[in-house]
Amino acid sequence: MTSERGVVITGASSGIGEACALFLGNLGYRVFAGVRRERDGEALNRMASGRVTPILIDVTEPDSIASARDFVCSQVGPAGLAGLVNNAGIVVAGPLEILPMAALRTQFEVNVLGQIAVTQAFLPLLRQGGGRVINMGSISGKLALPLLGPYAASKFALEAITDVLRLELRQWAIPVTIIEPGTVGTPIWQKSGHAADEVVRSLPSSAQALYRQLISAVERKLEKAAGRAVPPEHVARVVARALAARRPRTHYVVGRDAKLLTILVKLLPVRMRDRLILSVLGC
Ligand SMILES: NC(=O)c1ccc[n+]([C@@H]2O[C@H](COP(=O)([O-])OP(=O)(O)OC[C@H]3O[C@@H](n4cnc5c(N)ncnc54)[C@H](OP(=O)(O)O)[C@@H]3O)[C@@H](O)[C@H]2O)c1
Repeated sequence: MTSERGVVITGASSGIGEACALFLGNLGYRVFAGVRRERDGEALNRMASGRVTPILIDVTEPDSIASARDFVCSQVGPAGLAGLVNNAGIVVAGPLEILPMAALRTQFEVNVLGQIAVTQAFLPLLRQGGGRVINMGSISGKLALPLLGPYAASKFALEAITDVLRLELRQWAIPVTIIEPGTVGTPIWQKSGHAADEVVRSLPSSAQALYRQLISAVERKLEKAAGRAVPPEHVARVVARALAARRPRTHYVVGRDAKLLTILVKLLPVRMRDRLILSVLGC
C-alpha cells in the first residue's frame, strides 16, 4: 500500500530521524533522508541496505534546501510526496539572563525558521502528492523548564506554526500533525550537554556563580530522565501511524512521561505547577 510513496525526513543522521528513515524504509516508503555530511548518508545507506536515499540538507542553508528539493522533485516526478517529517533539531540550554544572544538565534534558526523554510520548499510536492506535514515537537512545547528556555521557546513556536499551517493548508486537505515526545534515548542530550557546558564556561565566573546551584539541579534531573528514555523506534512507529492514518490526529504524545506532563499542564494552576517544578529540582 505504501510502496514507492515518497517521504522526506530532515535530521536523519542519528536518533529519531535515523529511526524514522529505517522504519519507513522497511514499510516500503521511498525515503529521502536528510543528512548534513556525505559520510552520515553512507552510514545510513549501509544500515538501510539501499532502501533509503540520503540527501544533503542543512535546514539553515537556503541553497542546500533548494538543491534537496530539486533532487527529490526529479526523483518523484508528478507523483509528488506523501509526507515531510520536519525532524531536525538541536537543544540550546542555559539561563536566559546570561545566555549569549547568538546561541538563542542559533536555536531559532534550526528549530523554527529551518522548519518553515523546508516546509515552504516541499509544499508544492506535498500538494501534488496528496501528502502531509509531520513536525517533531516535544513535551517542551507544552511545558517550559528552567535552563531549557531557548529549546522550549522554539518548540512552543513549532506548536503555533503547526496550528497555523493546519488551518492555512486545510483548503488543499493537507494534514499537519505535531509529534510530542517526552525523553527519547538519542545523542541530543549529550550534544546539548556539551553545548551548554561551553556556553556556561564562556561566561565570566561571577555570572556562572549566579546559576551554579540551578544548573547542577537540572543536570541531575536530566541524567535521571535519560535513564527512563524511550527508544527512538517508539517515535518512528508513531510517525508511521501519523503518515498512514486516513485522518491523522493533530497531536501525538509519545512516552509515559510526556503523557503525564500533558495532563499536569492541563490540570494544575500555573503557580502550583511552578512550585512542583522547583520542588522536584530541590530549589
Ligand atoms: N531526544 C529527545 O528526548 C527528544 C524529545 C522530544 C523531541 N525531540 C526532537 O526530536 C528531533 C530529533 O532529535 P533527536 O533526539 O533524534 O536528536 P539527534 O540524534 O541529535 O538528531 C538531531 C538531528 O538533527 C540534525 N540537525 C541539527 N542541526 C541541523 C541543521 N542545521 N540542518 C539539518 N539537520 C540538522 C542532526 O544532524 P547532525 O548529526 O548533522 O548534527 C541530527 O540528524 C528534534 O527536533 C528534537 O527536538 C527529541
